[in-house]
Amino acid sequence: MTYSKIAGVGHHVPETVITNDYLSGIMDTNNEWIVERTGIHERRFIDPARDTVANMAAKASRMALERAGVKAEDVDFILFATITSDYYFPGSGVLLQRELGLESIPAMDIKNACSGFIYALSTADQFIKTGMYKNVLVVGAEIQSTALDLTTRGRGTAVIFGDGAGAAVLQPSEQPGVLSTHLHSDGRFAEELYVKDPGSSRPHEERQPEQILDTSGFKVHMNGNLVFKHAVVRFMEVIKEALDANDMTRDDIDLLIPHQANLRISNYIQQKLGLPDEKVYNNIMRYGNTTAGSIPIAMSEAWEEGKLKNNDRLCLAAFGSGFTWASALINWQE
Ligand code: ACO
Repeated sequence: MTYSKIAGVGHHVPETVITNDYLSGIMDTNNEWIVERTGIHERRFIDPARDTVANMAAKASRMALERAGVKAEDVDFILFATITSDYYFPGSGVLLQRELGLESIPAMDIKNACSGFIYALSTADQFIKTGMYKNVLVVGAEIQSTALDLTTRGRGTAVIFGDGAGAAVLQPSEQPGVLSTHLHSDGRFAEELYVKDPGSSRPHEERQPEQILDTSGFKVHMNGNLVFKHAVVRFMEVIKEALDANDMTRDDIDLLIPHQANLRISNYIQQKLGLPDEKVYNNIMRYGNTTAGSIPIAMSEAWEEGKLKNNDRLCLAAFGSGFTWASALINWQE
């Protein structure tokens, strides 16, 4: 039986640090509110003159490839999770392929928001198990800052998001690496967390740029309270599903990396599972919620900090727009 394993991880975040105090200067908010409600102290925003989703992803990918000991030209499939692709179309996967100087290999975009990286990981796992691909680059990258309403009207949403990219290289393995993945969605809640425009469901006459007087559809709309309530339930369900599928209990988890949505959500899951601090990885304090980027960025930092060792059981879990939610249980292999 062939399994897939994560052979290397990498990440890249933009240079510009946006503090809570900076946000307090441009909208009616304050450091105390943001820290207490979200746990976030700062986040990174891109410099539009320099950074794109694809070039941040390329930096993260090169780091992951180097750590995996894989040359870029040996990558045979790119899976790119993002809801903020550089263009409306094509997706950013082909732009990453171009940045890495690769020709003709397939590149696929996955648009499942905060769950996108686990959806991409699961897809890579299937392609490796069937023997179709051998070096799959799985990326999660986002530029959220350009779609935020950075005024007081948007403060309930704008303060939580940040920009960044993470990447992982998946390879075949005789030892179990990715033990299981579980994916879910519930489209009844699509409009509770979404960016409406430029949506093709808008009538033609409303799609002319000069006709668009109300541009709020281009900004992130989030019913934060409702998202929060669903998130805490679905996170727990999908983690339990992963443990049950592998005949494991919470005691078998060496490290849990929840999608970095809100520190209160991570703390709730930690408390419900009864996990000690050292078994839950959080970096939302520094980067905010980077949507599809959050899990691979956290994996890469956790690995750098020596928190992922051979045979450690790593649990990933996410919830986000769609609604979508997902988990992965991984036997970490060095
Ligand atoms: N600064 C100061 N006050 C604020 C701010 C702010 N930035 N934002 C909201 N407030 C005020 C509100 O106006 C409200 O005031 P009121 O009581 O006088 O009416 C009060 O604070 C409470 O507002 P809530 O919206 O109820 O705040 P809440 O505690 O729910 O926190 C938050 C909002 C942080 C967004 C939270 O709901 C959350 O984290 N939700 C989940 C986000 C998430 O998980 N998203 C999924 C992933 S993202 C993706 O998929 C793209």
